[in-house]
Amino acid sequence: MNISVAIDGPAAAGKSTIANIIAHKFNLMYINTGSMYRAAALLCMRERVCYKDVDKVCEIVKSLKMHFEKDRLIVNGEDLTEGIKHPDVSNNVSNYAAIFKLRKLLVKLQQDMAGNFNVIMDGRDIGTVVLKNAPLKFFLTASASERAKRRYLELKKKGIDVEYNEILDEIIKRDYIDSHRESSPFIKAEDAIEINSSGLSIYQVVEIISGYIRNYIKEHN
Ligand code: CDP
Repeated sequence: MNISVAIDGPAAAGKSTIANIIAHKFNLMYINTGSMYRAAALLCMRERVCYKDVDKVCEIVKSLKMHFEKDRLIVNGEDLTEGIKHPDVSNNVSNYAAIFKLRKLLVKLQQDMAGNFNVIMDGRDIGTVVLKNAPLKFFLTASASERAKRRYLELKKKGIDVEYNEILDEIIKRDYIDSHRESSPFIKAEDAIEINSSGLSIYQVVEIISGYIRNYIKEHN
């Protein structure tokens, strides 16, 4: 039986933590699409290529060989898993992710990666574009202040010096750009199940999603 699970949600809603746990629980291949946009942005920023220089951005993205090794993202042989989480990348990624041609390249790569595997993918356009036919779609939300608090603690734990207010501003700005861009804006897929995780623990959210997956498996076995 084929299963594909799509999880979309705004910045720092906890998608990757939850998708990772679900992937292990149900033996699904996890594809973190946000990390691919982050890697594209990081590599362009390293080369000092502005998001407005679309041709140069696409040239760089076409030259990237990206793959996941378990939970790590390897790009041209370099492990970028930690580097892409830096606040400088978070502050700029949405401008690059709004480029139509870049999205086309990465969506193709994501669909090729998914192939015929059982996958769980998280991002902003998974239920609406990348895995449009996925039978299980979730839309994970939480208040901006709760999301900022979680991201602040996560970065602090890694020893990255950040201010709570800067994180809050960054995620509000990113949500705005992501949902107002012309090319596949971030919106809830009509058939996605919305879960508001404010006040819920990671494991409570995992349990809710797992319940839907178990039911689906039961009904289709
Ligand atoms: O982890 P967090 O929620 O902060 O963000 P992410 O999932 O790593 O995504 C980083 C950025 O990539 C988003 O703010 C979007 O601009 C872009 N993105 C996108 O446009 N489409 C996706 N499928 C995934 C991410």
